[in-house]
Amino acid sequence: MIYMSVTIGTPLQSSAVKVLLLGSGELGKEVVISLQRLGVEVHAADRYDNAPAMQVAHHAYTINMADAEELKKLIQQVKPHLIIPEIEAIATEVLVEVEEQNIATVIPSAKAVNLTMNREGIRRLAAEELGLPTSAYRFANTLESFRAACDDIGYPNFVKPVMSSSGKGQSRVKSFSEVDAAWEYAQTGGRVNQGTIIVESQIDFDFEITLLTVRSKNPETGVIETSFCDPIGHLQDSGDYVESWQPQAMTPAALEEAKRIAHKVTAALGGCGIFGVELFVKAEKVWFSEVSPRPHDTGLVTLASQFQSEFELHARAILGLPVNTARHSAAASAVIYAGVDDHNLSFSGLNLALSNPNTDLRLFGKPEGFKRRRMGVATARAESTDQARELAKTTASLVTVNKN
Ligand SMILES: Nc1ncnc2c1ncn2[C@@H]1O[C@H](COP(=O)(O)OP(=O)(O)OP(=O)(O)O)[C@@H](O)[C@H]1O
Ligand SMILES: [Mg+2]
Repeated sequence: MIYMSVTIGTPLQSSAVKVLLLGSGELGKEVVISLQRLGVEVHAADRYDNAPAMQVAHHAYTINMADAEELKKLIQQVKPHLIIPEIEAIATEVLVEVEEQNIATVIPSAKAVNLTMNREGIRRLAAEELGLPTSAYRFANTLESFRAACDDIGYPNFVKPVMSSSGKGQSRVKSFSEVDAAWEYAQTGGRVNQGTIIVESQIDFDFEITLLTVRSKNPETGVIETSFCDPIGHLQDSGDYVESWQPQAMTPAALEEAKRIAHKVTAALGGCGIFGVELFVKAEKVWFSEVSPRPHDTGLVTLASQFQSEFELHARAILGLPVNTARHSAAASAVIYAGVDDHNLSFSGLNLALSNPNTDLRLFGKPEGFKRRRMGVATARAESTDQARELAKTTASLVTVNKN
């Protein structure tokens, strides 16, 4: 057999393969650890000092990544081979330029990063170009058109700023009397003061999943192939994930439909890497919700369930290496919140939390906590996902966060 050649040099020397990570949160931290293990030189940026991924990178930079000039300067300075956007609030026009001028490879592609940072871009691609099933939706950028959109879609509906994530500025509107308040809230919660809002009909789903989808090169042919992890079930609270588990049981027909949708949307976005495809499922029916062109927070469970976690899969796929999405255990994850607004926090109860040998913890090392800020995650393996969920929740609850 003839294999495609992939070469990795030595970090901090002229042969190094250099990666620039834009956004250095907990998911980025795990990606960096995976890249470090393969001998990649990692440069990590974020808007604040000592962000989680910075703590495990070779070099760290504190910049405003939404500022095109600052971002350009950093890229010129680092001269990375690969740029991995880990968050959405980035001056993406710079990434388009970088890709066009072959300055670096944008992971997975500038198109993917651009379209998914804005709910309008990805929704129109999925529903209007690809014909995928989604909730009914309208866009509005004035209060008047917003009122009309809500009435048109009906109640209850979901209101989201098009440039927002993690539930910011989102509300579930139950009747016309709540419409104006939802507008006000959406205007304050968006990432950029851009104003456009999406109104979505409520999907009455049985459960929701993340279907981690990997686009990677076949090692013999170099042709990009699509592979899937087992579906991840999750529980959301105020737009934030609190628990996830793998596998989520579903019918073969629903799983096949989920894969069809995920394949289609990731192929349209292009490039190599992992994607978190969010889907709603009711019996055999599946709706596309949204997609992250990067590891997904609910996929933290794969640290406990798979031979290659979503982070290792991402690292391998972007380097042109083969991937293995196989799962070895049923597992679950449960989030640990700070519960307080303070910096210099400490975590105790760890001995008891980890007393069960099938449990594990990640403490992200964030320099500052907020009440609802994710500071860590507990994972657990068990015979069934239900048992794993119980064990992960217990493990998380045994960790206490203390002020110093
Ligand atoms: N149209 C809908 N019908 C039913 N539930 C919905 C709908 N839209 C959103 N939700 C619920 O709200 C959650 C968050 O929505 P969505 O994923 O669009 O927001 P988000 O801010 O991108 O969240 P995150 O960044 O955490 O993925 C969904 O996972 C789902 O539980
Ligand atoms: Mg989401």
